[in-house]
Amino acid sequence: MKEQEQAYQTQGLQQDLVLDIRDLHIAFGSNVVLNGFDLQLHKGECKVVLGRSGSGKSVLIKCVIGLLKPDSGSINMLGHDILAMDSDDLDKMRVRIGFLFQGNALYDSMTVRENLEFPMRRHHIDLADQSADERVMEALENVGLEHTVDMMPAELSGGMKKRIALARTLILKPDIILYDEPTSGLDPVTSREIAHLITEVQEKYKTSSIVISHDMGCVQTVADRIAVLLDGKCCAEGTYDELAKSDIKEVREFFE
Ligand SMILES: Nc1ncnc2c1ncn2[C@@H]1O[C@H](COP(=O)(O)OP(=O)(O)O)[C@@H](O)[C@H]1O
Ligand SMILES: [Mg+2]
Repeated sequence: MKEQEQAYQTQGLQQDLVLDIRDLHIAFGSNVVLNGFDLQLHKGECKVVLGRSGSGKSVLIKCVIGLLKPDSGSINMLGHDILAMDSDDLDKMRVRIGFLFQGNALYDSMTVRENLEFPMRRHHIDLADQSADERVMEALENVGLEHTVDMMPAELSGGMKKRIALARTLILKPDIILYDEPTSGLDPVTSREIAHLITEVQEKYKTSSIVISHDMGCVQTVADRIAVLLDGKCCAEGTYDELAKSDIKEVREFFE
């Protein structure tokens, strides 16, 4: 355990900790996916969760946003016990959490503008028309795609769709953003652009982020710290340079 975390615990100070996952367990039948996983995220930090395909990274994120119920363990987010919340409270909580799905989850039959307005409608956030429009344009400006506002998702490239999905995540100005494999399926140049965009957003809005990835270029660009998910546990935690020299062979292999 890091010294800083120990200090928070002894002093009972939790305000700097925006996400605290302890001893998470979840199995699907005999398939044990998370087996005592721990993760802490501090305010303003970008933490990468690194793990092989099928290691349980998406399952972890789904537990955090309440789409899957773990068998045991605790998840405290922004001072609230996520696992004790009913669906109404979870819904309110989700306004503060941005989630970038692996497949973007844009609505094909809606324009970019309508896609971006959707979270505001979904959460009944009533903004004057002009202010809603300003938010849409600000979100698009952040991802450099103002000119696509009236386009349909089918008219956009993979990288542009990812940017629009990120803009939609930003529209509610979340405290925490969870990114599930933000560069998967993108070419190397576009992947680099998306990684830089994640860092820009992080700095501009002072968000705290979890990025799930095994794209090491992206990891190196975005990560303040990295947690490695192996056999259902966090087997190592540290900076990119620290983990590249890890004693654990399975950890080192990601960096080779
Ligand atoms: N809803 C589900 N029901 C049953 N098994 C699931 C479910 N979701 C994920 N799994 C299983 O959990 C494991 C981890 O999946 P996942 O978290 O998607 O991996 P990844 O690290 O690639 O994101 C896989 O073995 C997968 O088959
Ligand atoms: Mg996944």
